Amino acid sequence: MGHLDGIRSVLITGGCGFIGANLVRFLRAETPWEVRVLDNLRTGRREYVTDDLAQVHEADAGDADALRTALDGVDAVVHLASTTGVLPSVEDPAMDFDGNPATTFRILDACRRSGTERFVFASSGAALGDAGTVLHENLPPRPLSPYGAGKLAGEAYCAAFAGSFDMHTVALRFSNVYGPFSMHKQNAIPNFIKALLRREAIEIFGDGQQSRDFIYVDDLCRGIMLALTSPAAKGEVFQLATGIETTIAELVTLIGDAVGSDQEIVYHPRRSGEVYKSRADISKVTGTLGYEPNVPLSEGLSRTVEWYRDRLAAPA
Ligand SMILES: NC(=O)c1ccc[n+]([C@@H]2O[C@H](COP(=O)([O-])OP(=O)(O)OC[C@H]3O[C@@H](n4cnc5c(N)ncnc54)[C@H](O)[C@@H]3O)[C@@H](O)[C@H]2O)c1
Repeated sequence: MGHLDGIRSVLITGGCGFIGANLVRFLRAETPWEVRVLDNLRTGRREYVTDDLAQVHEADAGDADALRTALDGVDAVVHLASTTGVLPSVEDPAMDFDGNPATTFRILDACRRSGTERFVFASSGAALGDAGTVLHENLPPRPLSPYGAGKLAGEAYCAAFAGSFDMHTVALRFSNVYGPFSMHKQNAIPNFIKALLRREAIEIFGDGQQSRDFIYVDDLCRGIMLALTSPAAKGEVFQLATGIETTIAELVTLIGDAVGSDQEIVYHPRRSGEVYKSRADISKVTGTLGYEPNVPLSEGLSRTVEWYRDRLAAPA
């Protein structure tokens, strides 16, 4: 397996969540690694990760005893567990501090103690804030929300643990991720798909011209795998995105096409703490890790809609 040599077992914190449930499946399909999950099921769903896929430890990722057990024999960690979302962090910044940067520090430190050297951290474009330009790694970060500040702090600790303890840490600034296993998410794509399939009105906050860089979850998972295994990734920060900007209005049209129907749109005022335009320059991740996004938005949306259609057709 060449570049995959050296890793036999990987722990995914937050593995029962949206990205985690997809990553468990991706790594089981693409690598020979044993996959373990540590999740307190705050937002994730136990049934997203069946026992044949991974050993699931149900505990808080900031808990020292749970971490020690979960890290035993593990060569690499993908740290996804976090309080998520800009709005909850604006409503309760102290809660975000505990669940985001404080937890990241505790896991990194537990990895240092247990000798688990490879660590990939789920950061976010929110670490940069409303840059007013295309996002890239050389921009000075100025987070707009506590959530973004917590991600930036996590990036700083990743760099410091590479610098001080020679760990292979990598921070990946995910753009807006979408795909299956996202029923519990309150993001634009899950909300629009659910509304269309249930024949309910679509709600847009703002004028519909705000934009995002939407990445299909399998493309994101490939980027995570490359970050875990590429020597050139050590201690670095990468924007992990597609480089393509789509407005919310365009997104609604594409999802309508994938579902095969359209609905009334209700507009609400723009929400505070949210950036208006967002697209990433991905030249660093493509140049350094050989990463390429493969799944076009229309294709990713139809795969996602199919997943929702199966689950919303029969009452849960
Ligand atoms: N989805 C996106 O578009 C996006 C974009 C940028 C960054 N991210 C980051 O990616 C990561 C995963 O996001 P997601 O969309 O899959 O969210 P999610 O809420 O679906 O998954 C998070 C998982 O972590 C678990 N969790 C949360 N706090 C925990 C704790 N203290 N201990 C143990 N488990 C805990 C939850 O139960 C859940 O299963 C997060 O760190 C998030 O900030 C996501």
